Amino acid sequence: MEATVTVFISLVIPAILLVFFLVATYSRCRADLVEVHNEEAHRTFTEAEVLTHNKRSDLWIILKNKVYDVTSFVEEHPGGDAILNNAGGDSTVGFFGPQHGTKVFEMLDDFLIGDLEQ
Ligand code: HEM
Repeated sequence: MEATVTVFISLVIPAILLVFFLVATYSRCRADLVEVHNEEAHRTFTEAEVLTHNKRSDLWIILKNKVYDVTSFVEEHPGGDAILNNAGGDSTVGFFGPQHGTKVFEMLDDFLIGDLEQ
C-alpha cells in the first residue's frame, strides 16, 4: 500500500503535471500562429491593386470579397490554367463550381492575404 502511494506521488503526479505543461505550451504556440495569420489577413486591397497581380508568375484572385495569392499554386492546380480564367479579378463563380470538392475550400486559408476594399 505504502509502495503504491510512493509510486503515485513520484511518477503519476509528475507525469500529469508534465502533460498539463505540454498542453499549455502547445496552446500558446497555436494562439501565436493564429494571431500572426490574422494580422496578415487583415490587410485591405483595392480592386485596382489586385488586378495588377494578373499573371502566372504573380497571381491573385478574389473569392467572396477576400483576396488570395495563389501564385505558388498555379503549377500545382489540378484544373490547370482554369485558375487563370479571372486572373487578378473575381474568381468566385469559377471557384465554387462543381469541379471543386469541399476539401478544396479547406485549402483556402493557406493563400489568404487580405480583404477586398468595399
Ligand atoms: C485558391 C484557388 C484554387 C484552389 C486551391 C483549387 C484547387 C483545386 C483542386 C484541389 C482541384 C482538384 C479537384 C478536387 O480535389 O476537388 C481543382 C480542380 C479544378 N479547378 Fe481549382 N482551385 C482553385 C481555383 C480555381 C479557379 C479560380 C478555377 C476557375 C474556374 C478552378 C477550376 C478548376 C477546374 C476546372 C478543376 C477540375 C479539373 C479536372 O478535374 O479536370 N480552380 N482545383
